Amino acid sequence: MATDAPSGVPAEARFWQPVAMVDDLATVGGPPLPVRLLGHDLVLWRGAGGVAAFDDRCPHRGAALSLGRVVGGQLQCAYHGWRFDPMGRCVRIPAAPDFVPPDGHAAGTWRVAQAHGLWWVARDPVEPTPPACVGVPARRVVCGPYTVETSAPRLIENFLDTSHFAFVHEGWLGDAAHPEVPAYDVQHTADGRPLIPHYRAWQPRASASSAEGAWVDYRYEVLGPYAALLVKQPEGGGVADAYAAFACPVDEERCRAWFMQFTTDTATPDEALQQFQDTIFGQDRAVLESQRPRRLPVSGGEVHSAADRLSAAYRRWLQHSGVTFGVC
Ligand code: FES
Ligand code: CO
Repeated sequence: MATDAPSGVPAEARFWQPVAMVDDLATVGGPPLPVRLLGHDLVLWRGAGGVAAFDDRCPHRGAALSLGRVVGGQLQCAYHGWRFDPMGRCVRIPAAPDFVPPDGHAAGTWRVAQAHGLWWVARDPVEPTPPACVGVPARRVVCGPYTVETSAPRLIENFLDTSHFAFVHEGWLGDAAHPEVPAYDVQHTADGRPLIPHYRAWQPRASASSAEGAWVDYRYEVLGPYAALLVKQPEGGGVADAYAAFACPVDEERCRAWFMQFTTDTATPDEALQQFQDTIFGQDRAVLESQRPRRLPVSGGEVHSAADRLSAAYRRWLQHSGVTFGVC
């Protein structure tokens, strides 16, 4: 695992990662929220000015700041009551009220952004914002989170893998009588991310609202190390859906995933769409958690077929991007 000493934060912290639902921090002054990302404990809290993210470790004696509480727009440590403003600066030491804390008495801070109904964090991000989902329908339904006992790259590769549909999702996304994967082209975005512009497949049940099968045109795009987008368009019209998979790399071999469904379906209630996704992901989970190693092998160790071109391109891209967390 690559780390940038001395804080021990993995280099992947430069990519925006989702860590919580927007509603998890709805109340100003509400309790701080501990989250885990890249093997690192963080705390999110909301003051009057917005949401802040700190290392979950007080610079004084190392107590978890998530045990504290929000007082007057500042985060107060549970141990000796030191208070920190949203920039991480220590602004009050109750035991030494006349002491002006120097800059070094600060909590470790992360950047925070809101996107797709989630809070995202990064440290020294390479991109100004979390990944965008371009060309997707307006209605968004958040499915998950699902805590999964595998690495985030294993989960994203499963999302990019179409040759499992006829087996894992038989009767739903795939048909046992048609397991072949059509020839498809892998292309790359200007910044090198793999994508499949067109991929045509027969689906027995293409969405939560469809009762019959349809030919569906797929577009796949890798959005980041642990994020991908799928845009589906049934041939001859009908409900169009897009799904984004956002996997939070909690630890090297554990992730927490959200699936965003974007849909032109205005009739089916959120709960039914979420139930459909729960069913589909429940089918994937058993296989995902059985895969060994749990980290994604990017430099050999597994074999491919012609149907795996997108997975292979994803692995190459991870390797070229210097991603080491969750891969081997
Ligand atoms: Fe936080 Fe002392 S450990 S105030
Ligand atoms: Co699947």
